Amino acid sequence: MRLAVNIDHFATLREARRVGEPEPVLAALLAEQAGAEGVVCHLRRDRRHIKERDLRLLRQTVRTKLNLEMAATADMLKVALEVKPDVVSLVPERPAELTTEGGLNVAAGRKALAAFIPKLRKAGIRVSIFIDADKSQILAASELDVPLVEINTGAYADLKPGRRRDKALEDVRQAAEFGLECGLEEIHAGHGLDYVNVLPILDIAEISELSIGFSIIARAAMVGVGPAVGEMVRLIRRRT
Ligand code: PXP
Repeated sequence: MRLAVNIDHFATLREARRVGEPEPVLAALLAEQAGAEGVVCHLRRDRRHIKERDLRLLRQTVRTKLNLEMAATADMLKVALEVKPDVVSLVPERPAELTTEGGLNVAAGRKALAAFIPKLRKAGIRVSIFIDADKSQILAASELDVPLVEINTGAYADLKPGRRRDKALEDVRQAAEFGLECGLEEIHAGHGLDYVNVLPILDIAEISELSIGFSIIARAAMVGVGPAVGEMVRLIRRRT
């Protein structure tokens, strides 16, 4: 299992003062040096953290894999086709949300997505869709000619250990298994994962990559980017 680090909140910290630091691009490079195998950023419509400038510099400097999270809009398509990240992850976006609140409703948005996704694929960009651990959504995504999906672990991560969380974990496991059965090449997962709740997720062999942001950035504020990323990388490698 690989780790991709979402660096959005280094930019959030920068925007708290609107000065030049901390530099999210430097954080991305330090994360790669500490063993991250991908860098993720979300260019939001309101540009509240990551800016186009960050995305362009990341494209020039990231040596592993750059994954751009974005809403499936015409404006974002233009940016993606110009910058050409390795992967585009399609996510729902609600202006007032603190963070992505759930997976994309693929089943409901099938027609628009079927027109949108080929434009990215034609440019050589791999397309992922962020979806809830729900078989009908996985099936709908697999019918859209995408090679991978990212399963939302938020519902699992929000729960305390116990029967309800076990059920949410089982939903993630079954969704990952079902995704491969449906012919998807890869299953990723993420949202709300930290150094403790990630452990049971590591036992799901069908998941090949985790996207983790906030918990790593919170720890990086205390111990530095390299140690915070390195610790997560070691946790993942020890178990998978
Ligand atoms: N995956 C997706 C699609 C996300 O939107 C986010 C948050 O930006 C993450 C993963 C990472 O979540 P967290 O910051 O809670 O680790």
